[in-house]
Amino acid sequence: MFLAFGGAALAQDPTLAATPPMGWNSWNHFAGRVNDADVRAAADALVSSGMRDAGYIYVNIDDTWEAQRDAQGVIHTNDKFPDMKALADYVHSKGLKIGIYSGPGPKTCAGFEASYQHEEQDAKSYADWGIDYLKYDLCSFRMIMRQQAPHDQDKQNQMMKDAYEKMHKALIATGRPIVYSLCQYGWDDVWKWGPSVGGNLWRSTDDINDTWQRMSEIGFGQLGLAKYAGPGHWNDPDMLEVGNGGMTGDEYRTHMSLWAILAAPLLAGNDLSSMTAETLSILTNKEVIAVDQDALGKQGDRASAVGMTEIWTKPLSGGAVAAGLFNRDAEEHPVTLHLRDIGFENHAKLRDLWKHEDVHTSNGSYTVTVPAHGVVMLKVSR
Ligand code: GLA
Repeated sequence: MFLAFGGAALAQDPTLAATPPMGWNSWNHFAGRVNDADVRAAADALVSSGMRDAGYIYVNIDDTWEAQRDAQGVIHTNDKFPDMKALADYVHSKGLKIGIYSGPGPKTCAGFEASYQHEEQDAKSYADWGIDYLKYDLCSFRMIMRQQAPHDQDKQNQMMKDAYEKMHKALIATGRPIVYSLCQYGWDDVWKWGPSVGGNLWRSTDDINDTWQRMSEIGFGQLGLAKYAGPGHWNDPDMLEVGNGGMTGDEYRTHMSLWAILAAPLLAGNDLSSMTAETLSILTNKEVIAVDQDALGKQGDRASAVGMTEIWTKPLSGGAVAAGLFNRDAEEHPVTLHLRDIGFENHAKLRDLWKHEDVHTSNGSYTVTVPAHGVVMLKVSR
């Protein structure tokens, strides 16, 4: 299906990721250690914790599942994943979907077998196994680009686009709907061409890690990308670190709130089998998830900044607006939201999405103390 959007072609079916994908990915917590049992445990936990019912549907295996190819070139799984089809069946039996990882180069980032010159074959293997989502990571394809087009950046960029489009065509040819996640760290303004090569989402930055410094740098750095996102095609500021232990509760609430305002994919990256009640409550805040998943499909952006505080807003369906009042400083600060600045008259309904209670403006504004590295997240409606 080819649709026009903002001047560029949209090469994918927008019903496939009509709202930003939600689920879990193995990398942030398990990295190269992930195995079949971990993935089954994650699927079990998505169900028992209520996360599946809150919208977390995809169970995504990241790098290190791959073994060598056989004489016919067919990719095999390594000892950590004895039977991918059986694993996919298990995940599906829980009412979930399953994702996998590869890349256009000869090797993945972790040095495992990737899809270079085996794209159709790999797409077919994924479809045969019952895969629903592919993260396709540039990594060693950069070496191919440099070898084949030394010192020619334009040619290298074109090679990169062609490589992503090639796998998209291979996925389409399988006939199975497979969400296509581009991972090339935002190179060459991927948001401008990602949709035209079939991307349902594309990483807009280099890797996140479980620190306030990195998370906030990525999240607050997403300025100006809103116009490139919409149903079926999303900016991806990388996976969640909520619950991995490197940030405070306030910092993780900032992470979750900011990602929701950015209409980012919500891919939990923690060990779901052993999470605290606070982690679960952050990941399953239905009012915040509803902001991320709003049917209008608009990404938010920064509305104002005063000192180390920033207000980010996201238009929601029905004329409502989500407003994140963020404090990037290491001390608490009052933040004031003026209704007229976000398109409302003096009378609006305000709801605090973390306290789960209605709050009230006075004289057309709302002032609240926001904790260090924290957030107050509001829904403003008429
Ligand atoms: C890259 C990606 C990460 C992860 C690793 C796996 O760094 O950006 O998200 O997939 O590769 O090796």
